[in-house]
Amino acid sequence: MYASTVPMDSSKLVLLLSFSYILLHQSSLTAAQPNFINYYCNNTGNYTTNSTYQRNLNSLLSSLASDTQIDYGFYNLSVGEFPDRVNAIALCRGDVAVDICRSCVNDSTHKILEVCPNKMGAFGVYALCMIRYSNRSIFGVVDEQPSFYRWNLQNVLDVTLFNQALQTLFARLRAKAASGNSLKKFATGNQSAGVETVYAIVQCTPDLSEGQCSSCLLDLFRMITNCCGGNVRGKIGAKLIRPSCNLRWETGPFFNGTLEILPSPPPPQISSPTSLPAPAQGRPWILINSLLHFDFDVLI
Ligand SMILES: *[C@@H]1O[C@H](CO)[C@@H](O)[C@H](O)[C@H]1NC(C)=O
Ligand SMILES: *[C@@H]1O[C@H](CO)[C@@H](O)[C@H](O)[C@H]1NC(C)=O
Ligand SMILES: *[C@@H]1O[C@H](CO)[C@@H](O)[C@H](O)[C@H]1NC(C)=O
Ligand SMILES: *[C@@H]1O[C@H](CO)[C@@H](O)[C@H](O)[C@H]1NC(C)=O
Ligand SMILES: *[C@@H]1O[C@H](CO)[C@@H](O)[C@H](O)[C@H]1NC(C)=O
Ligand SMILES: *[C@@H]1O[C@H](CO)[C@@H](O)[C@H](O)[C@H]1NC(C)=O
Ligand SMILES: *[C@@H]1O[C@H](CO)[C@@H](O)[C@H](O)[C@H]1NC(C)=O
Ligand SMILES: *[C@@H]1O[C@H](CO)[C@@H](O)[C@H](O)[C@H]1NC(C)=O
Repeated sequence: MYASTVPMDSSKLVLLLSFSYILLHQSSLTAAQPNFINYYCNNTGNYTTNSTYQRNLNSLLSSLASDTQIDYGFYNLSVGEFPDRVNAIALCRGDVAVDICRSCVNDSTHKILEVCPNKMGAFGVYALCMIRYSNRSIFGVVDEQPSFYRWNLQNVLDVTLFNQALQTLFARLRAKAASGNSLKKFATGNQSAGVETVYAIVQCTPDLSEGQCSSCLLDLFRMITNCCGGNVRGKIGAKLIRPSCNLRWETGPFFNGTLEILPSPPPPQISSPTSLPAPAQGRPWILINSLLHFDFDVLI
């Protein structure tokens, strides 16, 4: 995950290569799911193998994995009765096609058991979907922990201008996402910041009320300056992720299509005397790979 600049002697290299070969070879045999970008296992409670809780969890996860009815990217299920009741939410990024969403959710149901064996609660995050389950009720509840922060190391050209644009954009997207319905609370958009343009998405789990979504996103937005020693501020890309809401920005388009329906009249843009370069078009998903360059993860 982390780039290493430490020189390696050749025997170590051979070892590493054979190890990689074994890993690759094994994964082709076992159809392994991709790794989560981030995950959290709640160590407060452990269930025992063959317990009712485990049976409920397995049944719930396989319902999620095999569902073919839900086409809006939000899954909320409960199985069993107290004290063995399991509640789960899976959420796809709001711009993801239904087949990709289902396959992501399916992957997540397998991966979460693999990385958090015997845990009463867990939270796993992929680029395009996330999953969380718990023995406590999680529907309509704003969960602020755990928080994951990832950012690109590269700085924007003009921090002041960029942050003004971010602020304007997020105010708009937050209102738009929060006013979404009980199936989707998601918004995308862009805003010019001098010669750069910021593209962003925000999303809440749609079981939250408008007010809950709005305050979850506002809290998260404040973390841009409050978290991580200020290192997220002024970066060309970042992702802030909590179980109940998340946000991401980049200086190029990275989401699928233009789903943002602007309220009329459109809010005033930050004035920019220079003419803007046209945003990169046609291959928006290339930038997903930029996640690999996010070098710092902070779990708080
Ligand atoms: C969930 O499990 C934890 C750990 O076993 C326990 O302390 C807590 O009371 C449980 N909560 C509910 C709602 O069952
Ligand atoms: C649950 O298991 C983990 C190890 O997997 C352990 O560190 C933790 O203390 C256990 N929690 C409880 C409440 O027993
Ligand atoms: C769980 O159940 C399976 C099948 O009934 C059994 O083979 C296995 O030994 C059990 N494991 C534990 C830890 O009880
Ligand atoms: C879910 O993933 C598993 C393992 O990767 C795979 O065997 C299964 O066919 C998938 N199910 C669906 C409905 O895609
Ligand atoms: C983007 O949208 C198009 C059209 O709906 C769809 O075919 C494609 O699979 C989507 N890509 C992703 C990653 O969801
Ligand atoms: C871990 O589980 C306990 C018991 O259900 C719960 O009180 C706590 O909020 C959970 N922690 C997180 C970060 O979800
Ligand atoms: C799941 O979400 C839908 C839509 O928000 C809601 O109608 C339904 O009651 C929820 N189910 C549970 C078990 O909370
Ligand atoms: C950028 O925003 C403008 C208006 O706000 C919109 O027309 C355009 O489609 C957006 N571009 C992308 C890639 O979202």
